[in-house]
Amino acid sequence: MKNVLSFVLFLAFIIAMYGFAFASAPVSDPPGKKVFVDSKCQTCHSVTSLGLESKKKKDVSDLSDVGGSLKADFIEKYLLKKEKIEGKAHPSNFKGSEEDLKNLASWLASLKKAK
Ligand code: HEC
Repeated sequence: MKNVLSFVLFLAFIIAMYGFAFASAPVSDPPGKKVFVDSKCQTCHSVTSLGLESKKKKDVSDLSDVGGSLKADFIEKYLLKKEKIEGKAHPSNFKGSEEDLKNLASWLASLKKAK
């Protein structure tokens, strides 16, 4: 009986340590941000709210507040040229995987400026 109790305590201890290690792990960038950087969207766009600068002298469009006007599933279609904004399709067609596109779109949809 005593053995069982110490075993249970031991298990609880391991679980607690595991949770602690997990909770204190460094916060990494969301996957969508990595896709954005890797896909060279910054050739034309910036996200100034996160310090991502565009490589163009004249910025096409800053996406810091894109989540305020567009939803993730619209962004997905728009980046595949299946949707248009004011009659115009996006100039570039997303060529990455479906998973990358989902991560990218949901990350963009989460970008909102504090009002
Ligand atoms: C060749 C330049 C270029 C590249 C590269 C580019 N875009 Fe765009 N993007 C545009 C233009 C032009 C528009 C439409 C005009 C505007 O929104 O200012 C636009 C519009 C958008 C919009 C809609 C913005 C809004 O609020 O209407 C989103 C979202 C977007 N792009 C995401 C991306 C993502 C994600 C990538 C990378 C996969 C990317 N773009 C790469 C030029 C580019």
